[in-house]
Amino acid sequence: MQDRLVGRLMINSMVKWMNKRSFIGLVLGIYVVAACQDNNSNTQARNSSPPAAQRAEVVKGAALYTQHCAKCHGAQGEGAPQWDIPSADGKFLPPPLDGSGHAWHHPSSVLREIIFNGSIPGKGNMPGWRDKLSLSDVDALIVWMQSLWPADIHNAWLEVEERTKP
Ligand code: HEC
Repeated sequence: MQDRLVGRLMINSMVKWMNKRSFIGLVLGIYVVAACQDNNSNTQARNSSPPAAQRAEVVKGAALYTQHCAKCHGAQGEGAPQWDIPSADGKFLPPPLDGSGHAWHHPSSVLREIIFNGSIPGKGNMPGWRDKLSLSDVDALIVWMQSLWPADIHNAWLEVEERTKP
């Protein structure tokens, strides 16, 4: 009888002790997680290649892209299959803009022209956006598109861009 009571008391205090411990553990855990997250965001901030202004451009470009361009170039800029083979009428289908096509061969001046003017007649059905989009809209679209490009493609484009600078 006595033994059982002592046993129960011991279990009770052990449970209490464990609760306290797990409470401490929880607090410690939260602290550690918070500290890690803090660390992460610090490193992210330090290593962040796209600065805040550019991230805002990407967000703006993504919205414009979804609204105006995705129906032809695909939800993620993947383009149409066989975009590089002209159709029977000699026109091309929408190419990928995600770095798997050849948009990176064009410096930003040419990319802007393509987007403002649309397809050269007979070459494709892309409409021009001169009346609908501003220069800053078009630049945001280009920044968004480039945010999808793998680093080697982006670097190749940077060389093209450098070469065409006046
Ligand atoms: C009606 C379909 C259609 C829409 C909408 C459209 N495009 Fe296109 N786009 C095309 C086609 C087709 C081509 C390829 C033929 C050509 O270059 O004329 C093309 C080509 C391009 C190219 C050149 C890519 C390269 O590899 O040289 C870019 C850049 C581009 N589009 C961006 C855009 C952006 C940005 C938008 C939205 C503002 C847009 N397009 C909307 C059909 C479209």
